[in-house]
Amino acid sequence: MPSDTQRTIVTVEDSPTQSMQIQLLLEEAGFKVVDASNGKDGLEKVRAHKPDLVLTDLEMPEMNGYEMCAAIREDESIRHIPVIMLTTLSEPEDIIRGMSVQADCYVTKPYDDEFLLSKINDVLESPLVPKPGGSKTDFDFQFRGDQYTFATLPERIVSLLLSVYEDAILQNEELRRAEEELEKLNTELEERVKARTAELIENAKRMLRAMRGTVQAMVSTIGLMDPDTAEHQKRVVQLAVALATEMGVPKKQMDGIHLGGVIHDLGKIAVPQEILQKPDKLTKEERRLVQRHPKVGYDILKTVEFPWPIAQIILQHHERMDGSGYPLGLTGDQILLEARILAVADVMEAMTADRPWRPALTLDEALDELTSKKGVQFDPDVVDACLSLFLERGFEFPT
Ligand SMILES: [Fe+2]
Repeated sequence: MPSDTQRTIVTVEDSPTQSMQIQLLLEEAGFKVVDASNGKDGLEKVRAHKPDLVLTDLEMPEMNGYEMCAAIREDESIRHIPVIMLTTLSEPEDIIRGMSVQADCYVTKPYDDEFLLSKINDVLESPLVPKPGGSKTDFDFQFRGDQYTFATLPERIVSLLLSVYEDAILQNEELRRAEEELEKLNTELEERVKARTAELIENAKRMLRAMRGTVQAMVSTIGLMDPDTAEHQKRVVQLAVALATEMGVPKKQMDGIHLGGVIHDLGKIAVPQEILQKPDKLTKEERRLVQRHPKVGYDILKTVEFPWPIAQIILQHHERMDGSGYPLGLTGDQILLEARILAVADVMEAMTADRPWRPALTLDEALDELTSKKGVQFDPDVVDACLSLFLERGFEFPT
């Protein structure tokens, strides 16, 4: 409600939205507002209303804020009215230009409502009334190679520079707050990522435990049906892992060799026990049944998602480099490295163990036999690793 003491402010702003925002803020703070949409309109309204203060944007059509401010200072009847510049321009040159047209105060957009109101009150409560006999001082200086010459009250310059300084402090404070907020968010995010990672690791460990348990159950099943096969698998794993280590196979592949070795003869559960434990040489038909075991093992495991190609390793462990193996007759690099390593470990274990139908070969005899098939049936690198293991490193099958 207007009253005798109510102060009037002319706002000059070309953006209708921003103009409305300022108007609402000022009216809520108890001011009477007269709005203008550019410098020319503003100058007319300042002349007509003789407000207590002018709040102006700088970049506007027809007449900008600097030109309007200069025109106000030229007009005897209104030159005493303080002018606050409200703008996104904040280069030193803009501020110097503000000084040259004798603005009182400079506030950058986006402005803080409280800060703007406090500047308005400061300017209203301490108007720059020229001292009696006081006069404008001529300022003549260079900045970044440009020459500036203008006359103004020194108090006005101090006031304007102080407002710029306060504005900068406020902006800095807001930046600091924003940075703090960002840091808080980062910390929270980091903690959430950590928690989620721990959860994933725990899940992975649980899955690994479940997988090991399942594999152990398979091994026990084989052990129940055929203790010899279970024992053979254990020894094959030890040699296969030693071979892989000797060859410098990466850890991840090594884990596949270990697990593949542990259950490589899983398919033998489909072979009648009397054939597996037959003390005599097998007939052709019986051998055909035994030779189904890689495919049976593969079929059991092919849909199980292991992090390693376990089903393929099992399928290929009786393949030979020259294509003489089974079930597919693969050759050379068609056979996985894991299966080529397992093949050598399997054969070495078989040759050096007693079987119901024949005694064990000596280590030398077995190594001779293996060497004779190096590069023919067996991967030469794996055979070399095997010779080095037994002859130089003293590897022995645990008894
Ligand atoms: Fe086998």
